Amino acid sequence: MTKVLESQKVSLKGEIAIPGDKSISHRAVMFGSIAEGKTTVHNFLEGEDCLSTIECFRAMGVEINRTEDVVEINGRGFNGLKEPSQLLDVGNSGTTTRLILGLLAGTDFHSCLIGDDSIAKRPMARVTVPLRLMGAKIDGRENGQYTPLAVRGHALKGITYESPVASAQIKSAILLAGINAEGKTTVKEPHKSRDHTERMLGAFGVEVESDETSASVEGGQTLKGTTVNVPGDISSAAFFLVAGAIVPNSRIRLQNVGLNPTRTGIVDVLDMMNVKYKIEAERVESGEPVGDFVVETSDIKGTEISGDLIPRLIDEIPIIALLATQAEGETIIKDAAELRVKETDRISTVATELNKLGADITPTEDGMIIKGGTPLHGGNIDSHGDHRIGMMLAVASLITSSKVELERPEAISVSYPTFFEHLAKLSR
Ligand code: S3P
Repeated sequence: MTKVLESQKVSLKGEIAIPGDKSISHRAVMFGSIAEGKTTVHNFLEGEDCLSTIECFRAMGVEINRTEDVVEINGRGFNGLKEPSQLLDVGNSGTTTRLILGLLAGTDFHSCLIGDDSIAKRPMARVTVPLRLMGAKIDGRENGQYTPLAVRGHALKGITYESPVASAQIKSAILLAGINAEGKTTVKEPHKSRDHTERMLGAFGVEVESDETSASVEGGQTLKGTTVNVPGDISSAAFFLVAGAIVPNSRIRLQNVGLNPTRTGIVDVLDMMNVKYKIEAERVESGEPVGDFVVETSDIKGTEISGDLIPRLIDEIPIIALLATQAEGETIIKDAAELRVKETDRISTVATELNKLGADITPTEDGMIIKGGTPLHGGNIDSHGDHRIGMMLAVASLITSSKVELERPEAISVSYPTFFEHLAKLSR
């Protein structure tokens, strides 16, 4: 599919409510499925990734009912999961694949995971290696490095694992396996990654010990069903934060945005790059801080983004790169080699696609160097099947001098199915 994005010459005004957080929606379904009793999830993200998670647990016999953005899960405990008679299809979702592996490892049945072409290229040894240290029996392409993966459920024992990368998916997979293991499981990481698993396990009645860079659980704990109110996804809001800052004569309000400190690296960058914004109506919902953003057209400045800021904004780097093309001065992004193993190699796809529109981005091994102040022109560009690249390019089209043709825009429904509706609502 190709979507023609006319050079809009618009300003952005008005307000939108940001859809539910992808990371939290996945976890709410997974934890509700292994909990005892009913779990109700409000403001569930109806993106394709989270729907893949629902289908995987339905295939293991869990009763899950969905009416628009409310999901009800009738959990029967971890031992209530049944051996799936079909492949578990994770679609495009790395979070589904990695977190579910941690659960499947400790079952007493056999299961097989399969996903799309992008999933088949994503590294899975980062979870299969530590899970095997716990006793897991996992096999797959290239000795368990890639999907399809087969899991023969097995008794697990707790470990202390030092992860070489700061990754919430690795940490979560090991902690979820740890709940069903004998003894204590600890995960240490080089920088703190998002902590939604730790917070939400607490809400489901599991005791988790955590500090700056480690988290631990004792095995043998059970989850109790609960109610989860999912905050809006700051990673989705980021596209409109940048749109509001770069489109002339704009001022927009983004309601209900999650402000978990492990996710707010983008807010630090707004400050560093001189973006005019305010956070209003700050509150706490279901253990997660939430607020509304007001953002307006800004005189943007270049900056350097590196170190422990990276895990706090890893999914926002494509849209930050676009912001940097409109800044005064250069922006340097480093320590972000993880971008190379996301839905696409995002260092390469960001540079290739934005440079087609006139940007001046030099990819480096672990980041990129972005020259500021480059006017953008029209052209034919491609999401490469990556939702965040698709949305970043659609935002870029708001400031191009002529029309943009975006290939594979349908990828956007992975995390933000109402993205184009929201963009139309704000465009004046
Ligand atoms: C996620 C963690 C991040 C992020 C992904 C969602 C999660 O990946 O990029 O979109 O829900 O745990 P890593 O933990 O691999 O960095």
